Amino acid sequence: MVIVEKDFRLKNHNTFGINATASQFVRISSVHEISSFIKSGEIPEEVLIMGGGSNLLFTGDVHKMILYPEIKGIVKLREDDNTIDLEAGCAENWDSFVEYCCQNDYSGLENLSLIPGNVGASPVQNIGAYGVEVKDRILWVEGIDMKNGEVQRIFNDECRFEYRKSIFKQELSNRFIITSVAFRLDKNPNFILGYGDVEKEFREMEIQNTLTLRECIVRIRERKLPDPETYGNAGSFFKNPVIPFHKFSRLRKSYPDIPSYPEGQCVKIPAAWLIEKAGWKGAREGNTGTWPSQPLVIVNYGNATGKEIFDFSERIMHSVKDQFDIELEREVRVI
Ligand code: FAD
Ligand code: EPU
Repeated sequence: MVIVEKDFRLKNHNTFGINATASQFVRISSVHEISSFIKSGEIPEEVLIMGGGSNLLFTGDVHKMILYPEIKGIVKLREDDNTIDLEAGCAENWDSFVEYCCQNDYSGLENLSLIPGNVGASPVQNIGAYGVEVKDRILWVEGIDMKNGEVQRIFNDECRFEYRKSIFKQELSNRFIITSVAFRLDKNPNFILGYGDVEKEFREMEIQNTLTLRECIVRIRERKLPDPETYGNAGSFFKNPVIPFHKFSRLRKSYPDIPSYPEGQCVKIPAAWLIEKAGWKGAREGNTGTWPSQPLVIVNYGNATGKEIFDFSERIMHSVKDQFDIELEREVRVI
């Protein structure tokens, strides 16, 4: 079914809770219908494809057509003694899918527990947390090319996954409607515990399995991140910058305590540290501010507009640039 809603209120469809309106919000519930809709020529060239709205910031009303593909379902593709392959529809809630996997002891996605949004968006920025990126488990991404309405399967090695990056965020942005994602999971888990407090928390559990590792991750996240139901936010507002080693060496002379992680030939610096050092931790301006225990998260403390949040983020970026000569890049997509 194709349902077109006009003057659609987006407040409950974005985790910042921004009160914006979309001129057209189109829900489409099958691959065949998406394909026919595109082939009918009724879709304008410029559209916005949306999932759960947990990585978007609306700075005003949306005049582009919004497409919301509503394909659901989890299908087992194959299974052997060691692994199982599952394909999930784009509109499956990400965390419910992870929970389903953990409950069945299919391991690999548990470190990505409690990330908001839908399965269809997971490859877009290659979601990552606690030492795992979704690319580690993706077999392929299936979707529809908006140029011709044809179904296309893009295999993992063609997705050009990097830290918070993929082909879907670049060349194929707004051009490819992801309809399902296939994953390979382990039946004999090999837990990834190296990030922060994960191992300590896990060793304290009475039973150690996929589901209890998920519980640990959920607990750690709940301690650190604001619940968007209470304070609107989109998780990390900026990416952690990746800088060349020579630049890092120079910075370390001025800031010997600067934390860092290797990232290929370069060095990743926690943006939270830069923002804190630039004096923005817990800062509040009007209806917006940084989260007191995680300044990488910008929150809507009341009825903030997208513009207020955007302007606040600009000030943080300028300040970090002035102090460290590092350009923060927004992770959140500004509309
Ligand atoms: P949306 O916000 O609706 O869209 C995001 C992007 O994907 C847009 O560019 C959109 O056009 C595109 N898109 C969405 N669906 C499709 C589709 N079917 N086909 C093609 N393109 C599509 N992210 C992490 O990586 N790690 C974290 O730990 C993490 N923690 C978070 C914590 C909180 C509290 C919040 C609010 C967010 C967090 N995020 C995190 C960010 C966010 O949850 C992810 O980026 C998520 O994958 C976005 O999913 P969504 O369905 O809400 O996508
Ligand atoms: N830090 C500070 N001050 C703070 C908080 C953190 O200096 O107040 C520094 C510390 O050095 C700390 C480091 O930042 O060790 C890293 O902090 P944290 O473990 O909280 O992770 P992060 O780098 O801030 C990233 C992701 C998160 C993901 C977590 C866990 C990005 C942009 N963010 O945050 O993803 O959940 O790691 O893996 O890579 C998201 O993308 O929306 C998101 C929440």
